[in-house]
Amino acid sequence: MTMRVYPDSQSLAVAAAKQTITLLRQAITDTGSGIWVLAGGSTPLEAYQVIADRYIDAIDWSKVTILLGDERIAPLDSADSNWHQIEQALLRQISKANLLRPRSDLPLAEAVDDYRLTLEQLTSNDEGYPIFDVVWLGVGDDGHTLSLFPGHPQLDDATTLVLPVEDSPKPPNQRLTLGIGALKASKHLLVLASGHAKSETITKATESIDLPIARAVKAVNESGGQVTWLFDKAAASQLP
Ligand code: 6PG
Repeated sequence: MTMRVYPDSQSLAVAAAKQTITLLRQAITDTGSGIWVLAGGSTPLEAYQVIADRYIDAIDWSKVTILLGDERIAPLDSADSNWHQIEQALLRQISKANLLRPRSDLPLAEAVDDYRLTLEQLTSNDEGYPIFDVVWLGVGDDGHTLSLFPGHPQLDDATTLVLPVEDSPKPPNQRLTLGIGALKASKHLLVLASGHAKSETITKATESIDLPIARAVKAVNESGGQVTWLFDKAAASQLP
């Protein structure tokens, strides 16, 4: 496990962008294609913008498959839609990529089934877990990641690839999310967190206190994937 601290959120975003492009290029060299799972939230958005500004021509996007770790049930063009926000920052510039958008315009149960089928069609390991080359995860102030919230039952499901959430404490309340199990065959996990509000949570998570982000990290670690935490100074300010 690697931990890196940057002076501010912009330099964190540049580092995340650079590392991701390097990893995807390596995946394309090694296997002919790469799979990248995106994260919603504000910290990753800065990094999408960096890729759009600096790295659009650095990679053959037609060889990259893109998924989203969690999505809010909302109209496709709504500001609540994670995909829509990322589309504005980056995805509309890389339309050659294989863009696997969750059908968050469908009723929740249908959207979950649809995304589960999408994941099941990806290359998987012997146990049926999709092989992701790069996964980005954000961290909520309460330690949630994806739409897996502290104390919620979805967190204890270690095998289902995509789960419904009816009562997210962070609005909108209906979401679909990858489960912890979906991360088990991930090769590289990048956890992105910036800002003072996350500093206590980050410290707990890196000390393996049982928070959703810590469980996600553990799942990737235990199955041999590499985990890199990327913090800005503010988020890292309470680390020992
Ligand atoms: C969501 C996100 C969520 C996010 C964290 C951190 O849909 O709400 O996917 O998991 O990554 O809440 O978000 P911030 O970076 O905005 O704090």
